[in-house]
Amino acid sequence: MHGKTVAIAEARANIALVKYWGKRDLELNLPAAGSLSLTLEPLTTRTTVQPASVDRVELNGEPARAGDAKRILQFLDLLAREGGLGERPPLHVASENAFPTAGGLASSASGFAALTVAGAAALGIEAPGRRLSEWARQGSGSAARSIFGGWVRMHEEGYAEPLSGIDLELGAVIAIVDASARKKVGSTDGMELTRRTSPYHGAWLEQVNEDLGTAEKALRQGDLQALAQVVEGNCLAMHADAMAARPGLIYWRPPTLEAIDAVRDLRASGVPVFFTIDAGPHVVAFAPLEHLPSVVEALEPLQGIRTLTASAGDGARVVTHGA
Ligand code: PMV
Repeated sequence: MHGKTVAIAEARANIALVKYWGKRDLELNLPAAGSLSLTLEPLTTRTTVQPASVDRVELNGEPARAGDAKRILQFLDLLAREGGLGERPPLHVASENAFPTAGGLASSASGFAALTVAGAAALGIEAPGRRLSEWARQGSGSAARSIFGGWVRMHEEGYAEPLSGIDLELGAVIAIVDASARKKVGSTDGMELTRRTSPYHGAWLEQVNEDLGTAEKALRQGDLQALAQVVEGNCLAMHADAMAARPGLIYWRPPTLEAIDAVRDLRASGVPVFFTIDAGPHVVAFAPLEHLPSVVEALEPLQGIRTLTASAGDGARVVTHGA
């Protein structure tokens, strides 16, 4: 079938417990190491792709900025090529996030996962999850993980897979710091600067490989203490690597540190909770579902922070597909 239909897809963001920070191939957007994440509901992006007379891209109800539109349209070119169509027809893309864009809240993960699935459906391309994940990766590394729901392992080879056989159910309280702030240095530029200039980058990549094994084992054993150690350690090592770039990248704001302290105080009081932070100021606190209310109670009163509670979510999927 050749692409002449409208397709709507939904995908959810994911937050990495063992982080991706560093590429080994810029062109193919291949990561220098694996990563491990949880896909989260309700951090949802809904994307519509349909035939049009000229290419048009709208993000959250407004015409996309030139750079964003170009990245999205080039990604659709790639999908068409990879799907064997050669040149693609002009398309109208409309994408909406149900949560704050940028600033390290993983909107590129849900965005490119939803675009991959909606774009493939609109163009009449059928592919297994692993292929979709490889394609999504070329839009954004973390998007490869959002193709799948729940616990997901990204491989250094460039595709993600769901991790089966894990009974542990965790949710997250996201401490959103200054939601209007857009990140100043995007992840690709930040990773490249870090790779080129941070004296700690080699040590970071070695640590990731060790942390992946430790984290997966802790997840399988439901060992929250071990998980807290490895996840916080991995996050702080990523930020230490980025901070050691020249000029150093500081993604945190003062409320970020307040939230880190609050999470650690709560853990010291007996609540199994631990944090991670992406390339932005927000703090994501993971805990078993029954403990999420006390995590909210600890974070919500902090100045400059509002919270959003999330739980494990599904992978990317087409919700409407028609002529
Ligand atoms: O998918 P990208 O290129 O936006 O990179 C994501 C990088 C981090 O969010 C900082 C870490 C991760 O593994 O998600």
